[in-house]
Amino acid sequence: LTLPERSLPAVADFIKSGKARRIVVMTGAGISTAAGIPDFRSPETGLYANLAALDLPEPEAVFDLSFFRQNPKPFYVLAKELYPGARYRPTVSHVFIALLARKGLLHMLFTQNIDCLERAAGVPADRIVEAHGSFASQRCIECKEVFEEGRMREFVARGEVPKCEREGQAQGVDGEAGAEAEKGVCGGLVKPDIVFFGEALPRAFFDSSGMAKEADLILVMGTSLQVHPFAGLPNMAEEETPRVLFNLEQVGSFGTRADDVMVLGDCDAGVRRLAEELGWRDELEKAWRE
Ligand code: OAD
Ligand code: ZN
Repeated sequence: LTLPERSLPAVADFIKSGKARRIVVMTGAGISTAAGIPDFRSPETGLYANLAALDLPEPEAVFDLSFFRQNPKPFYVLAKELYPGARYRPTVSHVFIALLARKGLLHMLFTQNIDCLERAAGVPADRIVEAHGSFASQRCIECKEVFEEGRMREFVARGEVPKCEREGQAQGVDGEAGAEAEKGVCGGLVKPDIVFFGEALPRAFFDSSGMAKEADLILVMGTSLQVHPFAGLPNMAEEETPRVLFNLEQVGSFGTRADDVMVLGDCDAGVRRLAEELGWRDELEKAWRE
């Protein structure tokens, strides 16, 4: 056993003892719900429960590449909601992760989120693996030409589907090429660099996943751990590495290992308790208010 007991004070003591110098954090949509961004799978409030209006074969289709090719509109309805901007502020959980980084304790943050709030909170870019990509860049799904951010913002704000403006051979799909072909531009659909079902995760995910094995403490926050391969990450930790779950519900294999600690409930509340135990509470609140 690494921890004397499965409790938050024991986790805090472990960190204070200096034995947790490589902390790996794994996050999902639950750390952003307090910012006003819905998660995916919560029964009443999750996006998948509220997509009925978009007339999808199933909710996940909105992030499915082959569906997107046929009908990109539902995704752009959603994109208008989710697009990062001044509208959303980082949560206490985001700021706590930034604090770990500032203290030199964050080995790596693996996030499934596409809202860019961890960067906004001040987690350094080289400590973040955006496992499911983000809205930070976008390109044509046919010729891969990068599409300019300012233009993207305009399209998303209008709820319109952006098409590739690269000059040369038209590549538009399924007969949609007409107008674009006449203009002599590509016309392929533009998609943010978010990982859709049917697409590979970024290389950075596979290049860095070994860091879960090197970790001496794992913190998992606000994820249902239902989407692979991300869901397998917490299991890559060594057997004697403590794993702490901050989530509304038990997920994945949490509870099966001797050093698993489950902090069930709101993740911001759990993180505040941990910060309190660590003597970091004032620092956390101050950083969050800034
Ligand atoms: P989910 O919606 O599947 O899971 C969110 C989890 O967070 C659930 O277990 C909730 O109970 C929990 N939760 C919600 N609010 C919380 C709060 N305030 N405090 C603590 N826990 C809270 O979201 P993800 O696990 O992130 O893929 O979903 C994984 C992937 O599925 C997403 O990245 C997305 C989706 O399809 C893509 O966009 C490619
Ligand atoms: Zn193109």
